[in-house]
Amino acid sequence: MCGIFAYLNYRVPQTRKQIFETLIKGLQRLEYRGYDSAGVAIDGNNNEDKERYIRLIKKRGKVKALDEELHKQDGMDLKADFETHFGIAHTRWATHGVPNAVNSHPQRSDKKNEFVVIHNGIITNYKDLRKFLETKGYEFESETDTETIPKLVKYMYDNRETEDISFSALVERVIQQLEGAFALVFKSIHYPGEAVATRRGSPLLIGVRSKYKLSTEQIPILYRTCNIENVKNICKTQMKRLDSSTCLHAIGDKAVEFFFASDASAIIEHTNRVIFLEDDDIAAVADGKLSIHRLKRSASDDPSRAIQTLQMELQQIMKGNFSAFMQKEIFEQPESVVNTMRGRVNFETKSVLLGGLKDHLKEIRRCRRLIIIGCGTSYHAAVATRQVLEELTELPVMVELASDFLDRNTPVFRDDVSFFISQSGETADTLMALRYCKDRRALTVGITNTVGSSISRETDCGVHINAGPEIGVASTKAYTSQFISLVMFGLMMSEDRISLQSRRQEIISGLQTLPEMIKEVLSLDEKIHDLALELYKQRSLLVMGRGYNYATCLEGALKIKEITYMHSEGILAGELKHGPLALVDKHMPVIMVIMKDPCFTKCQNALQQVIARQGRPIILSSREDTESSKFAYKTIELPHTVDCLQGVLSVIPLQLLSFHLAVLRGYDVDFPRNLAKSVTVE
Ligand code: F6R
Repeated sequence: MCGIFAYLNYRVPQTRKQIFETLIKGLQRLEYRGYDSAGVAIDGNNNEDKERYIRLIKKRGKVKALDEELHKQDGMDLKADFETHFGIAHTRWATHGVPNAVNSHPQRSDKKNEFVVIHNGIITNYKDLRKFLETKGYEFESETDTETIPKLVKYMYDNRETEDISFSALVERVIQQLEGAFALVFKSIHYPGEAVATRRGSPLLIGVRSKYKLSTEQIPILYRTCNIENVKNICKTQMKRLDSSTCLHAIGDKAVEFFFASDASAIIEHTNRVIFLEDDDIAAVADGKLSIHRLKRSASDDPSRAIQTLQMELQQIMKGNFSAFMQKEIFEQPESVVNTMRGRVNFETKSVLLGGLKDHLKEIRRCRRLIIIGCGTSYHAAVATRQVLEELTELPVMVELASDFLDRNTPVFRDDVSFFISQSGETADTLMALRYCKDRRALTVGITNTVGSSISRETDCGVHINAGPEIGVASTKAYTSQFISLVMFGLMMSEDRISLQSRRQEIISGLQTLPEMIKEVLSLDEKIHDLALELYKQRSLLVMGRGYNYATCLEGALKIKEITYMHSEGILAGELKHGPLALVDKHMPVIMVIMKDPCFTKCQNALQQVIARQGRPIILSSREDTESSKFAYKTIELPHTVDCLQGVLSVIPLQLLSFHLAVLRGYDVDFPRNLAKSVTVE
C-alpha cells in the first residue's frame, strides 16, 4: 500500500511554498499507508517562463525528510508564482525494490522527466513490459514495477500517429497493457497544467474546490473505442480519434482546484466535495475542465460519476468506518490475502511462483531441514503451516521461537534452510537468529511485510507478504498473509511431485475461494460481539484445539491477552488430560476450535471431557458439523475449506472477539499497554 496525492490549481495563484505545503500535508495524511520513502514532481520554473521542465525531488525515509529536502534544493525560488500548476506526490511502502530515492516515486520516463507517474498497487506483468521496452532502447534506473509505466507512456507518445493526441488518450493506451492493481496519476512536460488519473483495483478519488458554482453535479462518462490487444501489438493498431466533448466543470476565467488522493483523509481539509473513480475510469483535467472517459461500460453501469459531499471527520476517514486500525485491518483481510497471492498463484494452470525464491529453489529442495523462526504472531504463522509444509516439502520442519532458539545455541548446518518470519522485519530476536544462522552458512529466507527492513536486507532471498502497512499493535492481517505465503512456498516446492498433484490442486482451489470465505466469516461480527458481551467481565479464557488449529488457539489467546489484559491460554487439546483439565469447571469459559478435519474425532473426545467437568464450551465449528453443536453452550459456524487452510478462517472470529472484548473493557485497542509495534530490543 502506498499513498498518492496530487494538486492542480487552475487560475488560483499559488506560490511554490504554498504548493509544497499542500503536497506535503497531503502526504502526511497518507503516511499511515506507507512511509519508507517519499517524493514529489513539480514544475521547475514559474508561469512567466516559456520553457517548462519538471523537477523531481525524492528522499528515503518519512515525509518529514522529504519536507526538509524540499527546502534545501538549490535555486528553488519559494516565492515563484504559479497561476496554474500541477504537482504530484507519493509516500511509499515498498513492494518491488528496496526503499531508496531511485525506487521511490514519482517514477520517470527518461532523464528529461518528460512523463512522471505516481502509483499505488502492483503491476504483475512488469517484467514482460520491461523486456519489451528494453528492446526499444529504454534504460531502466530503478527496481520498481512502476517504472515501466512512465516509459510506456513515452513510448506511446513517441509513436503517436497524430500530433494532437490528448494526454488521457495516451494513458488509455497504457492501462490496456497493464495487469495487476493500480491507482495512477500522470504529469508531463508535453501537457503543462494538465492531469490524468486512473485506477484498477486500488482506490482513487478527486476532490474539487471552487468559489464558483460548478456547472454540474454529475460528470457523464464518455466511452471511447480502442483496440489494443497485447504488448506485441502496442501502437500497431490504429486508435480512433478521440471525442473531446466533455462535461465542463470550470470554464472560461473561472478558478478551480483539484485534489487527487488514495483516500479522503488527504482531501477532506481542503474540500468535502469528491468524486470516487471506478476501475478503468480515466479522469483528465485540461484547461481547468474535468472529464472522465472509459473504454467499456463500468461495473456499476452508471453513466456518470456524482460529486459527493463527504460528512466525515478526518480521523474517521483514516480508519474508514472502523473505530480502530486493528478492526480496519481485520476487515481488510479479504483484500490483503488477494494481494499476497497476486501474480504468484495462477489459478488456471494451478501453479505457484514466488519470484523471490525461484533462484534458490534447487538448493532448498536439496536441504537437510527447514527451520522456521519468528516471535509472537509470526511464530504462530510458522506453527500453523508446519504440517502442510512437512507434507508438501517432505522435509523435516522445525519451528522456533527466536529467543529460545538463541538461548539453546541450536545446532545449525550449512545445508539447513532457515526462514525468518517478521511483519516489521526489525524484531531484534528474529534478526539475531538470522545472523546466527548466517554465520553457520545456512541459506536464509525472509518472510516480511516491510521491504528494505533489516531482515529483508540481510537474508539471502525472501517473500514480501504484501499485506500493506499494519498499524494496530496487535497483528492480524499480517498473520493470515504470512500463513498464505508459507503455504505458497510449500506449493512451489511440490510443483513436480506427481504423487502430490491432487493435494496441490485441492489447496490451490482452496486459496482461490479464501477471500470470499473470509468475507463470510467477517459477516459473523455481530454474533461475535454478542458473545463478547457475555464474556467481557471474565478474568480468564481458555482456547483449545489441535492439529491444524493448534496455532489458531495460540494466536487467538495471544490476541485476547495483549489487548484485553484477560488471562488467556491456547491449549493443545491432546494435552488436556495432562494438566489443563484441572482448570475446567462451570465458571471457566472454554473456546474450542473443532473443525471437520483429521483431528475431528479426537476433538470430540476433548469436548466430552470438558462437558464431563460441567464446562460450557463455546465451539468454533465447521458448518458441515452437525455433532458438536449438540454439546455446545454456544456455536459459531464457519465455512469449510481445505484442512490446511482452515486456520486462516478460524483465527478471524478470535481476532474479532479480542477486539470486542477490549472495547467493552474500555481499552485502547490500537495501543495496548506495555507493547510496541516493532520490538527492536532483545
Ligand atoms: C502480536 C504481535 C507480536 C508480534 C511479534 C513479532 O499481535 O504483534 O507478537 O507478532 O512482536 O513481530 P514481527 O512480526 O514484526 O517480527
